[in-house]
Amino acid sequence: MSGTVLAFLCTLICVSWSKKLVDASPPNIIILLMDDMGWGDLGVLGQPSKETPNLDAMAAQGMLLPNFYTANPLCSPSRAALLTGRLPVRNGFYTTNGHARNAYTPQEIVGGISRDEILLPQMLKKKGYISKIVGKWHLGHRAQYLPLKNGFDEWFGAPNCHFGPYNNSGRPNIPVYNNSEMVGRYYEEFKIDRKTGESNLTQIYLQEGLDFIRRQSLARQAFFLYWAADATHAPVYASRRFLGKSRRGRYGDAVMELDYSLGRILSTLRSLAIENSTFVFFTSDNGAALTSGPNESGSNGPFLCGKETTYEGGMREPAIAWWPGRIAAGTVNFQLSNVMDLYTTSLSLAGISPPDDRALDGLDLTPVLLNSSQALQNRPIFYYRGNQLMALRLGQYKAHYWTWTNSLDEFKKGVNFCPGQEVPGVTTHEQKEHTMQPLIFHLGRDPGEKFPLSVLSEEYQDALSRISPVVERHKKTLVAGIPQLNMCDLAVMNWAPAGCEKLGKCLDVPKSSPWKCEWPH
Ligand SMILES: *[C@@H]1O[C@H](CO)[C@@H](O)[C@H](O)[C@H]1NC(C)=O
Ligand SMILES: *[C@@H]1O[C@H](CO)[C@@H](O)[C@H](O)[C@H]1NC(C)=O
Ligand SMILES: *[C@@H]1O[C@H](CO)[C@@H](O)[C@H](O)[C@H]1NC(C)=O
Ligand SMILES: *[C@@H]1O[C@H](CO)[C@@H](O)[C@H](O)[C@H]1NC(C)=O
Ligand SMILES: *[C@@H]1O[C@H](CO)[C@@H](O)[C@H](O)[C@H]1NC(C)=O
Ligand SMILES: *[C@@H]1O[C@H](CO)[C@@H](O)[C@H](O)[C@H]1NC(C)=O
Repeated sequence: MSGTVLAFLCTLICVSWSKKLVDASPPNIIILLMDDMGWGDLGVLGQPSKETPNLDAMAAQGMLLPNFYTANPLCSPSRAALLTGRLPVRNGFYTTNGHARNAYTPQEIVGGISRDEILLPQMLKKKGYISKIVGKWHLGHRAQYLPLKNGFDEWFGAPNCHFGPYNNSGRPNIPVYNNSEMVGRYYEEFKIDRKTGESNLTQIYLQEGLDFIRRQSLARQAFFLYWAADATHAPVYASRRFLGKSRRGRYGDAVMELDYSLGRILSTLRSLAIENSTFVFFTSDNGAALTSGPNESGSNGPFLCGKETTYEGGMREPAIAWWPGRIAAGTVNFQLSNVMDLYTTSLSLAGISPPDDRALDGLDLTPVLLNSSQALQNRPIFYYRGNQLMALRLGQYKAHYWTWTNSLDEFKKGVNFCPGQEVPGVTTHEQKEHTMQPLIFHLGRDPGEKFPLSVLSEEYQDALSRISPVVERHKKTLVAGIPQLNMCDLAVMNWAPAGCEKLGKCLDVPKSSPWKCEWPH
């Protein structure tokens, strides 16, 4: 063989060999999780004011997933699901008393993430990833529940919502931690101005994220960044540069600032030349919070109701996957997928086998992300509130077993109870059971869930015959975790008021209660 041929062969072999090595090295992972941002808040998903140029560009460079779901219509259970890959009813972020709750308030009594759960950053450590959370944690705020005790190497942010009271004074004043040191509080050192909504916190969160990315990149260190900014959760906030700039009021200002921040994160990856080795996923924790009023809440696009509910507006989330060179640019994929898939998918990308000693609810989306022609068939979506399976989606059909309405007749006049959008004169908040005859919608024809199929139709019977066995199997095999959020049970311990937190509000606050139960969700 001549030297030229040898050299040529070597070029082929060596190049493909080194390419393989590069392909095999696990990508960095960035999850950008928004707070109460709605499906309809993105220009690319139809928001008419088109104020999300960076998100729209991210979708154009990556994959848009219009059928992506959260695991629960509330912040804290949804986040627990993302980080454990398990439904809240399994990981403990649920109540057994029919109430939808977050983990917060009096730090002495409320639970948090169980030691038995294995969080994503703990798993990623197996392949040497360094992990940081920036922003809202919300998996419990007693010392043992905090991020650095649960797999994260770094943390900058708040233990829970900046909305609820943190201590018994009932005054919202959420601490901000830099790793294990408390460096200030939202309304004091970090100066969220209640009147104007001005705060630099998103900018600080951005800097903390960029700083982490730069440091890891410089050290050639694989990293996981969980960037969970909360500026779109009421009370919404934005820095001076963005205040008053949007056509959508203060909420739109916050969206613009988050969009800007996301653009900075992506451009930083490019300037560090690590964009081809970084998987980025954008989504939100639950639907827009219509209860927060018109100036403080977003849009759920064509979907019914919002946060707190198991209609599509409460649980369908904006979602974009981005990984230049690996995820084809400008794809739209209609795979049914959810936040728990991010756990399984991240592990798959990192080359780590998922835990095999427990039920996981996430699927590996890698085949779909890397080849949009692939599909994971017959994948159900579960809609829970507390320990109640409210609805299930299979294919285009969604069956509601419980709704907030009085009767099918009422339903046909339109849903009469969406939190934040109550019909005048309708005061009932009752959940209506349809377990014998679920309301079924075809979400393709009727994404707004307005026209239940006639129970007499063949289509209804056919859909039900496919959905029922999935529900039965799920219920039969479900092993629920130890519930962490049962405030009402604590009445037994003479602490929390009986009947509290029905649909998020305390109904019966005894005078002896040292704190007021005014926080809604
Ligand atoms: C609760 O927060 C208020 C406002 O920051 C503070 O003045 C008070 O000392 C705190 N109380 C406790 C028990 O930590
Ligand atoms: C957080 O702490 C790190 C090092 O401990 C420091 O470099 C950084 O500036 C701090 N962040 C803020 C916003 O104070
Ligand atoms: C935010 O940062 C700007 C620029 O650094 C500063 O002028 C402004 O006072 C800060 N605002 C608050 C509320 O801290
Ligand atoms: C919403 O914002 C507008 C403009 O600032 C203001 O006029 C209006 O009173 C606000 N509405 C509510 C419900 O706060
Ligand atoms: C990333 O991949 C694209 C095409 O797949 C290529 O054009 C670009 O140069 C790559 N960037 C780096 C930093 O390698
Ligand atoms: C993508 O998936 C489709 C459908 O399974 C298959 O036919 C095709 O070969 C795949 N493409 C690649 C590049 O693997």
